[in-house]
Amino acid sequence: MSDDIRVRLADTAADVEDSLAALLPQPKVKGERLAEARLIEAMRYACEGGKRLRAFLVLETAAVFGVARDRAMRVACAIECIHAYSLIHDDLPCMDDDDLRRGRPTTHRQFDEATAVLAGDALQTHAFTLLADEATHENAFVRIALIAAIAKACGAAGMVGGQMIDIEAESAGEALSLPEITRLQRMKTGALIEVSCQAGAILGQADTAHMRMVEGYGRDFGLVFQIVDDLLDIEGDAATVGKAVGKDTEAGKATFVQMLGIDNARDRAERLTEQAIAHIRPLAGRGDVLAALARHALTRKN
Ligand code: IPE
Ligand code: IPE
Ligand code: MG
Ligand code: MG
Ligand code: MG
Repeated sequence: MSDDIRVRLADTAADVEDSLAALLPQPKVKGERLAEARLIEAMRYACEGGKRLRAFLVLETAAVFGVARDRAMRVACAIECIHAYSLIHDDLPCMDDDDLRRGRPTTHRQFDEATAVLAGDALQTHAFTLLADEATHENAFVRIALIAAIAKACGAAGMVGGQMIDIEAESAGEALSLPEITRLQRMKTGALIEVSCQAGAILGQADTAHMRMVEGYGRDFGLVFQIVDDLLDIEGDAATVGKAVGKDTEAGKATFVQMLGIDNARDRAERLTEQAIAHIRPLAGRGDVLAALARHALTRKN
């Protein structure tokens, strides 16, 4: 299954790349370059590359509930726009101050800081434009449920709130406790991953029991994903990871690896992976791809 999941991820990433290229605004209209073209070019640049893991989660959970792939793809692209925006802002000098992302200069390096801030802003609102469109789902209640869940996951109660705690922890006098780090990671990274799983279930109008299964999977998987990201910062190399490594310790980031050490953090990630898979066990064969993805994420090298 491990090779199968790699192929499936690569195929999906290629599809998402094409769909995003079609769904993002164009810098030229009827051959004429728009006055705001630079903003649009930065939006498109920031969306290129990436493993498309959140998109994959949307598409695969949607498939569990029998949703047409073209609809799920719009939601997958919307979430990738939000993720790309979060990375642009995460890399800014006032945040993590990074020069390399996805093996290329970060957006503020390739363009400039003001353009990067604006491209992040515009990607976030573009995501909601995609979600609100009738092409995403004919039922307006489904579209509103998606918008509400995704807005919550990326706002103060989710990703942005987590980023605030992450930044403040760098200069805090006292180290965060384990429950505090867990909450930070669930918010900063887990929330968007969990809502990617929820989104497939919302699109498929799944019942509460099924919704809880994929949410539980997404919640544990989200934590594992950040633990592995933090391990890669210590054990990985920039050429493979596509971004600078070795910066978390230097910056004094609050991570599980920092708190527990490498072996215990890996152990925790392994246990959480099994817990994630246990949530979707009632799906039986329909959950195989999600289970394989969770196992794959543990051993990923980028
Ligand atoms: C990086 O996410 C930021 C984190 C939340 C850890 P990914 O590792 O999914 O980044 P891309 O999209 O593949 O570049
Ligand atoms: C970023 O976490 C999480 C976001 C919300 C973007 P990191 O700061 O660890 O992500 P990388 O390592 O820069 O990709
Ligand atoms: Mg960060
Ligand atoms: Mg960062
Ligand atoms: Mg990191």
